[in-house]
Amino acid sequence: MKNKNSQHNPFVFGGTVSGSDFCGRGVELAELQADALSGQNVLVLASRRYGKTSMLGVFRAARKQEGIKCMYVDVSRVLDVAEFADEYFNAFARELGGVERAIETIKNRLGFNLSFSIKQAGALADFAYHLDVGVKEKQVSLEQVVTLPFSYARKEKEPFIVIIDEFQETAKLGIEAKLRSYFQTHGRDVAYVFAGSKKSILLRMFGDAGRPFYQSVKTMHLDGIPGKDWQGFIAGKFADTGKKISSKQISKIVTLAAGCPYLVQHLCHALWSIVSTMVHDRDLGQALDVVLAREDYQYSMSWDILSLTQQKMALILAAEPTELYSKDVLGQHGLVASAAQKALAGLWLKNVTDRIEGGRYTFQDPFFKLWLLKQKK
Ligand SMILES: Nc1ncnc2c1ncn2[C@@H]1O[C@H](COP(=O)(O)OP(=O)(O)OP(=O)(O)O)[C@@H](O)[C@H]1O
Ligand SMILES: [Mg+2]
Repeated sequence: MKNKNSQHNPFVFGGTVSGSDFCGRGVELAELQADALSGQNVLVLASRRYGKTSMLGVFRAARKQEGIKCMYVDVSRVLDVAEFADEYFNAFARELGGVERAIETIKNRLGFNLSFSIKQAGALADFAYHLDVGVKEKQVSLEQVVTLPFSYARKEKEPFIVIIDEFQETAKLGIEAKLRSYFQTHGRDVAYVFAGSKKSILLRMFGDAGRPFYQSVKTMHLDGIPGKDWQGFIAGKFADTGKKISSKQISKIVTLAAGCPYLVQHLCHALWSIVSTMVHDRDLGQALDVVLAREDYQYSMSWDILSLTQQKMALILAAEPTELYSKDVLGQHGLVASAAQKALAGLWLKNVTDRIEGGRYTFQDPFFKLWLLKQKK
């Protein structure tokens, strides 16, 4: 029984979501499934908080239902090669149903001779293992570890999918060429799904002719979730808790947030808290103010890392001028065209903006733009 007028806010933001908290992504999930099962490596690219990790979690759960091995490793906090190998190994072990079974499989069936020690105590399922290798051997152990899924796939004659989240972090470890050479030998037996939000770094990793991963993947751009998917999701959550929102108001929310799932959920969360039964148009503005205030710290930090010309350029872009390079527009901020171009490149490198068709620019986080406009009012 659904509890009408429940005090429990049905919208969730922050962390990964699944089940009834997960909206849309049907098209992307089907495409990813078809690609991975045919051994096609994919790069899932999205701005921050567009729902990569949640989608990959739902993808993985579906493969589990089908009995297909699909390991997930997040390398965002990895600081060196040894830590990378540890994370990778532990993710592989979890996929094989726990460390004990993994060790048994690795030693007896795959014929590897790796040695391990327990890294942290905890409940049995939380054990993390540390590879007992010295500095000299760590390059060798890296190869052994990343080869495990391939060995398993070959031996068991089953597909194996490996998801590496925040993959751009490997660029700083100096193992890009090595990883590429190992993965390359895994052919179609292992499908790799690389994901990340630092688009400027990832596009160079996979798009620059001199880089090891050049043109080695199919790229999937994860955009905002379209309004048609949000309509039922949002209206349903309001209705289930005894509140009402119109489809026009939902469209307004989705347009403001450009479909970015984190922002849509955050805005809906704030809106739901404000209204007692029926959403009025004025409530939307109030909810937006709440969200922008809550994100103030984050946005202030994004602003502070910009150079002065990048800050000026960000303000110019936020105002959406019809002619970006006109003397009137640039002159107001004391900029010339060459400095403006350099600032635009910098904003892209810092993952603030995207360049879209027609030479136009958008903010990767649409609420950052609204925050800027509010600051400068
Ligand atoms: N498919 C979805 N349906 C509904 N909400 C979603 C969906 N995907 C993501 N979200 C919302 O966005 C938030 C962030 O999701 P998630 O952590 O998966 O994004 P991410 O792109 O991996 O973020 P980051 O860039 O920080 O790694 C979630 O807490 C949730 O509020
Ligand atoms: Mg993530």
